[in-house]
Amino acid sequence: MTKSIVIKEDSIEVAVKVNATITEFDKPYDKAYFEGHYKNAVSLILVAYVDNQPAGYMVSYDKNNDGSFYCWMAGVDPLFRRLGLLNSMMQYLNDWAKNHGYNKLTIKTRNNRREMLSYLVKAGFNFAEVQPHPFIKDNRILLEKVVV
Ligand SMILES: CC(C)(COP(=O)(O)OP(=O)(O)OC[C@H]1O[C@@H](n2cnc3c(N)ncnc32)[C@H](O)[C@@H]1OP(=O)(O)O)[C@@H](O)C(=O)NCCC(=O)NCCS
Repeated sequence: MTKSIVIKEDSIEVAVKVNATITEFDKPYDKAYFEGHYKNAVSLILVAYVDNQPAGYMVSYDKNNDGSFYCWMAGVDPLFRRLGLLNSMMQYLNDWAKNHGYNKLTIKTRNNRREMLSYLVKAGFNFAEVQPHPFIKDNRILLEKVVV
């Protein structure tokens, strides 16, 4: 049966719960950690639901106050990957940013986040900057895309 996928603007509590399922992240970040990043900025917390179950999240905020909107953290529960949840959340983010007057999406990832890098290249993001780290796999890659 076809699964129902719905993207909602949601609470940080739900995003924190989904975050705890992401096996690749070193530690389950808590609510205070999330809020510490975006609390004084315009922010958008998205949760992707599969058949009414929270399965993915994306936290974005106005980091630079320059017309860009920063996608800070995103993840999908391993049980629900390759269903298009990241793609659907990014589409929602693009539309929301457009409706709120932003002209660019930015995101930072790392060399070792291969799924995210694959997605970002396919989705039309451009590489804007590389921030070196002692281990090359940890280099931070800043990408950006014009809001369409
Ligand atoms: C990256 C991540 C969010 C992708 O979520 P997802 O919902 O499975 O992604 P989607 O189903 O929307 O996939 C969109 C596209 O991304 C690419 N992609 C996703 N997973 C991939 C994989 N394992 N291998 C290669 N390409 C992949 C594909 O191009 C895919 O399109 P396709 O399925 O039509 O081929 C998920 O793998 C994840 O949570 N990874 C761990 C956490 C992480 O790295 N977060 C990002 C930190 S910056």
